[in-house]
Amino acid sequence: MPTNFKLKPQDFGENFVWGVSNAAYQTEGAYNVNGKGLSIWDDFTSQKGKIHNNEHANVAVDFFNKYKEDILLMKSMNIPNFRFSLSWSRIIPDGNGEVNQQGIDFYNRVINFCLECNITPWVTLYHWDLPLALEKQGGWTNRAILGWFEKYTTLCANTFGDRVKHWMVLNEPMVFTGAGYFLGVHAPGKKGLKNFLPAIHHATLCQALGGRILKKTVKNGIIGTTFSCSQITPYKNTRKHNLAAKKADTLLNRLFIEPLLGMDYPTESLPVLKRLKAYIKPGDDKLSEFEFDFIGIQNYTREVVKHSYFVPYIQAKIIKASKRQVETTLMDWEVYPPSIYNMIKQFNQYKNIKKLIITENGAAFTDVVKNENIEDTKRLNYFKSHLEQVHKAQQDGLNIDGYFAWTFTDNFEWAEGYKARFGLVHVNFSNQKRTIKSSGKWFKSFLENL
Ligand code: BGC
Repeated sequence: MPTNFKLKPQDFGENFVWGVSNAAYQTEGAYNVNGKGLSIWDDFTSQKGKIHNNEHANVAVDFFNKYKEDILLMKSMNIPNFRFSLSWSRIIPDGNGEVNQQGIDFYNRVINFCLECNITPWVTLYHWDLPLALEKQGGWTNRAILGWFEKYTTLCANTFGDRVKHWMVLNEPMVFTGAGYFLGVHAPGKKGLKNFLPAIHHATLCQALGGRILKKTVKNGIIGTTFSCSQITPYKNTRKHNLAAKKADTLLNRLFIEPLLGMDYPTESLPVLKRLKAYIKPGDDKLSEFEFDFIGIQNYTREVVKHSYFVPYIQAKIIKASKRQVETTLMDWEVYPPSIYNMIKQFNQYKNIKKLIITENGAAFTDVVKNENIEDTKRLNYFKSHLEQVHKAQQDGLNIDGYFAWTFTDNFEWAEGYKARFGLVHVNFSNQKRTIKSSGKWFKSFLENL
């Protein structure tokens, strides 16, 4: 999809935030050094058959040792904001006990180096790597997680909050509860409603709890949290397919944000959610609410959904992009730029969102290294066509205040292992060499006169 891209960052307004995102488990490596405890992802990837080629992120892209090189590269590419996550088990190895000073020292080094390079750190507290010791006590299914999370959040806010002002509480609660506690395809590999429902409710409570703690503790903090979202299109415009699409939209796009905004769980559109009642205690509705300074939305594709009697609880089925004769990425996700526009629009319909930021958007394609160059034209077109949609949304009067590309360097893509590269910077996984791709060079010149 070639685009004749003419926009400049200035066209998005002076206060528009530009950045790149990554996550601890996908990049850091150093999984068992300097006192770090194991996380559910360390454990999950050590089990045979869970991840493409049985890969793991024990080394990943060695961000633990190469953070200076990477941040300097970021600086050389004119990137002003860097979103990364903290590994809970590096900071508190068993999740709830002794603090590991060496873990804190590492993040202090990263944060201080960002600031030295004039790059603003945006920190996510939880990007899916729960300490394994907590999972052994039920993880997100155990309401005790409220106490564990409170301790971890308070420690991070007190320790880093003097320098880190931009925070996000959770990364995509729908994905880590859905893939990790319902489908079992992500860590910790649990399945079924009996795991999914309590995980949903406890994540909803922690999302707001984390917001309250950060707001109270971090002076002048700008506090947010993030959601995955995809435009949902019914397979055909008939009553049953429309209903299926509505249910999928409720599950994938509305479930976690609505209780946060004081609207309760959207049970009328997805009746199975009524079973959440078993885990809800008096007063939980109020505890689920918090007014964030910004909401991060993360969009990659759209989903086409059809009615299916065979899918339990939801009777809705996603039709794979590869079966629809559309352009796809290596993840078998449709390249469909209007989805980002429509999701910005959908989130703008909620009344009390102060700011909306795209905290992730990007694509995986096969990259070919030729004479030290990676001409990733498809990825570059993907970025341009999505940025055009973000700009269009702004022109149409919708609230949208920033854009973070996923991701800076290639890294460990969860169940897909190292197969799916999303980076602006190519990594040779055998020698850790970094090479800026064409898309990265384009971002560098695009952001030059910011
Ligand atoms: C996650 C990232 C992931 C990306 C691409 C998002 O769901 O936050 O960790 O790598 O999508 O799949």
